[in-house]
Amino acid sequence: MIKFMLNGKQVRSSAKENERLLDVLRNEFHITGVKCSCKEGECGACSVILDGRLVNSCLVAVGSIDGSNVMTIEGYRETKQFEVLDKAYASVSAVQCGFCIPGMVLASECILSKNSNPTEAEIREGISGNLCRCTGYNAIVKAIGIAAKEGKGLW
Ligand code: FES
Ligand code: FES
Repeated sequence: MIKFMLNGKQVRSSAKENERLLDVLRNEFHITGVKCSCKEGECGACSVILDGRLVNSCLVAVGSIDGSNVMTIEGYRETKQFEVLDKAYASVSAVQCGFCIPGMVLASECILSKNSNPTEAEIREGISGNLCRCTGYNAIVKAIGIAAKEGKGLW
């Protein structure tokens, strides 16, 4: 039995140790904000925050996270920081199909929690592991910059 914190609640998984965290989250816990795409660590759609770091959950064996803390967009959306990012993304129409957005928002959180006033280059670097097929990235970069200003003091 593997135990970990999932969005603030202690959970137990009966999955095999080598199962992907991505599959366990989606199939056992029905956490569908974690998107499944390449399953090779290339797209970032499956991003989660694991013990404060952005990771591709398709590359994490669930057996390796016993005792860890996992945050997905479902948990993050309860935070004040999410509210600020949500407004900022909407204000510049940074969402098109939406498939990449849970991962992008979690990547945004990881950028801002390390550096509350990032440069454009730092923002681009911070989302470089998250692919977006729709937006061309500029609006997303802008949204993160706006969130940094609007959320002063939160990060
Ligand atoms: S599904 Fe995990 S990085 Fe693409
Ligand atoms: S909004 Fe469609 S992939 Fe990013």
